[in-house]
Amino acid sequence: MQTRAEITGWGKCVPPVSLSNADLERLMDTSDEWIIERTGIRNRQLSHVETTDLAELAARRALACAGMDAADLDLVVVATCTPEILCPSVAAMVQHRIGASNAGAFDLNAACSGFVYGTSVVAGMIESGFAERVLLVGAEKLHFAMDYRDRGTSILFGDGAGAAVFEASGDGAGVLAVDLGADGGKGGTMLIRSMGSMGEPSATNDPAIHRLHFEGQAVFKIAVHGIAASAVRVLDRAGLTTDDIDLVVPHQANARIIDSATRRLGIDGDRVFVNIADLGNTAAASIPMAIADALEAGRVSPGDTVVLTAFGGGVTWGSIALRWGDRTEPVGVHDGELPPTEMTALDLLQPNLAFYAPLHADEPPVD
Ligand code: UT7
Repeated sequence: MQTRAEITGWGKCVPPVSLSNADLERLMDTSDEWIIERTGIRNRQLSHVETTDLAELAARRALACAGMDAADLDLVVVATCTPEILCPSVAAMVQHRIGASNAGAFDLNAACSGFVYGTSVVAGMIESGFAERVLLVGAEKLHFAMDYRDRGTSILFGDGAGAAVFEASGDGAGVLAVDLGADGGKGGTMLIRSMGSMGEPSATNDPAIHRLHFEGQAVFKIAVHGIAASAVRVLDRAGLTTDDIDLVVPHQANARIIDSATRRLGIDGDRVFVNIADLGNTAAASIPMAIADALEAGRVSPGDTVVLTAFGGGVTWGSIALRWGDRTEPVGVHDGELPPTEMTALDLLQPNLAFYAPLHADEPPVD
């Protein structure tokens, strides 16, 4: 039977500081009702540590779940669009910290589609025989780019990391088909211009340039059409129909996007995993965190057909069809935690509020 890439370990790292809709009401002209109705989000978690710290803990948890020693990994891939530095990669830092001494390491940026793109790379490496055991992490610290007085963007995003261990399997479980796509011509709809080589050497650090630029309605439409069409293609490639799907684990961008896209596909809500209410949109981290939550909630059974589907900056989109293996319980548990913090969300956001203040000079001050 064909060699496939099967997920044998899963884990997540949720940073401890909560940013509720009530907190956001204090910062901008918005309301809990509006945010819930338009996005399905009630809360997001913010990180007081760096992207690599989140990635490392999610990685350790996924390895314990798989019962695997880090030294047995052949490759570490981190999907992120918010590395704390550009070089070395987050993946290389994680590789060193967890002791994956026999693994290569690199980062991959497909924004919110990063985990789907990463899964396609991992599957290709494993199916070709170039690797047998691969760790794929999605990790983001998105709040650094948020202007918390811009109600059209900052209400959506949170920080976090999720990870999966993939192993070569010969029993039919694993990745069945991949669909990837992009339209760089629409890249201007979601921009983070800081951190690239255009940013650092310049004398000014202009908040108007630094903050996330985001055309919500345009992205919304691209997302609904893109996700539905991509999921249809991946099913076709796998020789499946929507009736065969046991669970869709979509990128958690907006509950309305997930709902519209899955309705277009004719998939009822019972077969869609949604955890956006508590975590918000965590870009490349959202699907692996949702996978971990779905397993914990008992929503995945042995042999299930699972579809992962995402869209994001670039713009990029993609879907994965996979068959779950025999195990839905962790082999082991890593009980490490992030360093504790006493900070509230508003403490943590003070640097953002100060940095973006010049863009809001005409508005009343935050209470
Ligand atoms: O992961 C990939 C990245 N992103 C996404 O997937 C997100 C895609 N887009 C979206 O989720 C939605 O477009 C948003 C949540 C960003 C916005 O929701 P919307 O339903 O598209 O709202 P809208 O932009 O059409 O705005 C409707 C109204 C406007 O007021 P007027 O012009 O009708 O008076 C906005 O100014 O709602 C206003 N508005 C808000 N009101 C209260 C926009 N944001 C807010 C807010 N609170 N936070």
